[in-house]
Amino acid sequence: MDGDIQHRQIEGGETEDRAEVKKLFIKTYGCQMNVYDSERMAEAMGAEGYVLTDTADEADMVLLNTCHIREKASEKLYSDLGRLRPLKTAKPDLKIGVAGCVAQAEGEEILRRMPLVDLVVGPQSYHRLPAMAKAAEAGEKTVDTDFPAEDKFDHLPERRPATRAPTAFLAVQEGCDKFCAFCVVPYTRGSEVSRPVDRVLREARALVERGVREITLLGQNVNAYHGAAADGVWGLGRLVRDLARIEGLERIRYTTSHPNDMAPDLIAAHAEEPKLMPYLHLPVQSGSDRILKAMARKHSAEHYLRLVERIRAARPDMVLSGDFIVGFPGETEADFEATLALIRAVDYGMAYSFKYSARPGTPAAEKPPVPADVADDRLQRLQALLGAQQKACQQGMVGREVQVLFEKPGREPGQMVGKSDYLHAVHVAAPPEARGRIATVRIAASGPNSLAGQVTSPLW
Ligand code: SAH
Ligand code: SF4
Ligand code: F3S
Repeated sequence: MDGDIQHRQIEGGETEDRAEVKKLFIKTYGCQMNVYDSERMAEAMGAEGYVLTDTADEADMVLLNTCHIREKASEKLYSDLGRLRPLKTAKPDLKIGVAGCVAQAEGEEILRRMPLVDLVVGPQSYHRLPAMAKAAEAGEKTVDTDFPAEDKFDHLPERRPATRAPTAFLAVQEGCDKFCAFCVVPYTRGSEVSRPVDRVLREARALVERGVREITLLGQNVNAYHGAAADGVWGLGRLVRDLARIEGLERIRYTTSHPNDMAPDLIAAHAEEPKLMPYLHLPVQSGSDRILKAMARKHSAEHYLRLVERIRAARPDMVLSGDFIVGFPGETEADFEATLALIRAVDYGMAYSFKYSARPGTPAAEKPPVPADVADDRLQRLQALLGAQQKACQQGMVGREVQVLFEKPGREPGQMVGKSDYLHAVHVAAPPEARGRIATVRIAASGPNSLAGQVTSPLW
């Protein structure tokens, strides 16, 4: 789930009536929550006269929205800052900000290690970014990694009424109380907080008015959602059912879910709500009960397999996706075989797999590691199995009719790319006006990372 995402697609702010236009470059690392946060930060800075640019060279401010999940992800921050040094020397007025989970974890240490940084802002403090940017313009360095009592989303501008991409993220929940023994997220994002129902519905309606047809609800533990409403507290199932009543919103997804929070009502929503898409990311991490216990996952492999059965009973065509860690401290060959067995039993359509990375401050970091060559070998074997399952899932779509929401032009002229209900990218011959529309497509071929097909229903 982590990788570099260059932010290009966000429209700038309402700057026409301002004399001075300043340029902001944002680089986003890590998960979808960071993508969402970058978008909201761009909007907040837009209200201050900043427009987005897609090169650091042109920028007045560079913001690195960082990820701390594995060592490699964190270290990218320091290599990128090193690369910015000549630019800062050539343009001393350039301001550099560090946001996201490394900002939260390392705080002032970042300023000490990298004096070229002007501001460090943690994920719960983004509403304070405009004030921090002003301080930076006045030559003052600031660090804000508080977990304030107020909801940052209440202090960020309303989403602007310009048209935008047909798919959007919407954060409904943040933080994690699970404390898996390997994971930094509970420390970098704080404890679980759900946004009130009316705020979520309002933001969803605003997105749909801007042309959004598909919303992915985000949370570090999105299915632990428990949002305050006028008539009590709503779970994610009820929220999904209510969102589905918004006219013009065609598709709903949510990520990331924890197996212990898949409430019966949410599973039932998959059977009853056609707008809820048949793709579910449900990480399990390992198939060995011994390792699951050491990871403090608080569920067994059997619990997960039975849960998958119940989900598939509700929605037989559900495509499942997962996250796996190999080489967790103490993992034996037998534990690893149990993970392979679980993968064979579930049959994933898609999965992300990682070599365990010891993270400072987490309980597992104290334990002796599995030798690197053993972990490398297991990762290769795991990925071979997951790759074969992914290929088979794609191949199984050939000849079938799926619904595709067109998002953008494809590589070839006259081609558009969209996502199927099952989240597969699909290339189709279609005009640019198809963007934002859903059509029935018969899948004709499966490539390495995408499908190709022909439209079989009239586009409009
Ligand atoms: N909230 C999400 C996961 C967030 S992190 C959830 O519970 O599923 C995304 C994935 O990164 C995790 O599912 C896990 O597979 C992986 N991950 C987290 N910490 C890790 C670590 N220390 N080393 C390797 N992979 C890790
Ligand atoms: Fe991390 Fe576990 Fe929380 Fe997911 S559930 S964010 S893996 S601590
Ligand atoms: Fe990374 Fe923070 Fe997301 S550590 S995965 S950016 S919650």
